[in-house]
Amino acid sequence: MYVDSITEQNSSLKIKNRGRVTSHTFISELKKQGVLTLSIDVSEQQLSESAPLPVAPPSPLTTSSFEDEIPRASKLHHQGKDIQRQMLQAISNGLPVDLALPKAFTRELVSSIGRNPDALLCMTKIREKDNYLLEHCVNVAILLANFASHLHMSEQEVQELTLSGFLHDLGKIKVPGDILHKAGGLNDQEMIMMRDHVYFGIRILQDMALPDHLIKIVAEHHERLDGYGYPDGARGDEIGRYGRMIAIVDSYDAITADRCYKAAIASQKALKILHAQAPQKYDKHLIELFVKSIGVYPVGSLVKLSSEKIAMVIKKHDSHPLKPLVKVFYSVRSKHYLPPVEVDLHNSQYRIEKAVLAREFTLDFNRYFNEYIAL
Ligand SMILES: [Fe+2]
Repeated sequence: MYVDSITEQNSSLKIKNRGRVTSHTFISELKKQGVLTLSIDVSEQQLSESAPLPVAPPSPLTTSSFEDEIPRASKLHHQGKDIQRQMLQAISNGLPVDLALPKAFTRELVSSIGRNPDALLCMTKIREKDNYLLEHCVNVAILLANFASHLHMSEQEVQELTLSGFLHDLGKIKVPGDILHKAGGLNDQEMIMMRDHVYFGIRILQDMALPDHLIKIVAEHHERLDGYGYPDGARGDEIGRYGRMIAIVDSYDAITADRCYKAAIASQKALKILHAQAPQKYDKHLIELFVKSIGVYPVGSLVKLSSEKIAMVIKKHDSHPLKPLVKVFYSVRSKHYLPPVEVDLHNSQYRIEKAVLAREFTLDFNRYFNEYIAL
């Protein structure tokens, strides 16, 4: 049904935005919060009862090319950020959050990964200024969907891990903004408040009636094998396999992003950093499997070739991890963009010299991506 406003209640709950209610859990939550009657918009209601949830319809295809999948992946990436924003807004307004939408979204995300993982993986490299939290949650979901699929986990496990990844940082909305966005280091008190986002997240997810085994995954995303993680300082076997997986993926995405307190680090270097902290902090075997799932030079990352040109990785070769398929698009020598050309480094005289970041060459990567990749 499509709720227009609250007409009768024995509490002070306010609905700031009109919207569609899609599950009985959500209705029970409204009743629990003292709502007695609601005003329903019938015109929207008819639409809502015949229309699917506002996420992209599933494609009947089982596989698709990178070029065919990238527009769908791009749309999904945007939708993921919008849904994330809606959920955070609802939480900060004290409203219950309906699980139906993130569930439907992550189902579509897993389908896209199944059709062609490279398209959504590529989208994880598109970063917009000041959108870190939204992008991070979508990216962790994408990377987990890809990781779990790579490990041939069951359909249900892939879905559940992906959903947990998408919801893992909701608790951050309860952390004061000046701490969340502080450019310098946090003092002890601020650090405690920042770490509390895990507790807040657990409470939010309990209110959303997320099953306990999925809340456990979220609860463990900052735990480390040596016991120096948080919130519980769990160690070794106390941390589940899924908790170890989300810890790797969460750290990887955070290291490769620009943050208010540090600049982004290239993907390949980020993987080395994680490796160096295993097995003390991260599960070494799982890190090796994670690297295999995204490649030594992950799709969407930039590399400098021995031809003095910059290219974007568009496909990994499982048997030749150092020689992926790339799209060459910039000349370092002439400092000019080039018409993009696909080069299979496995069959080329050129090799990768190093992983690079767009800012090192003052490249407008997002513009290039929108004009030549996400057509
Ligand atoms: Fe977190």
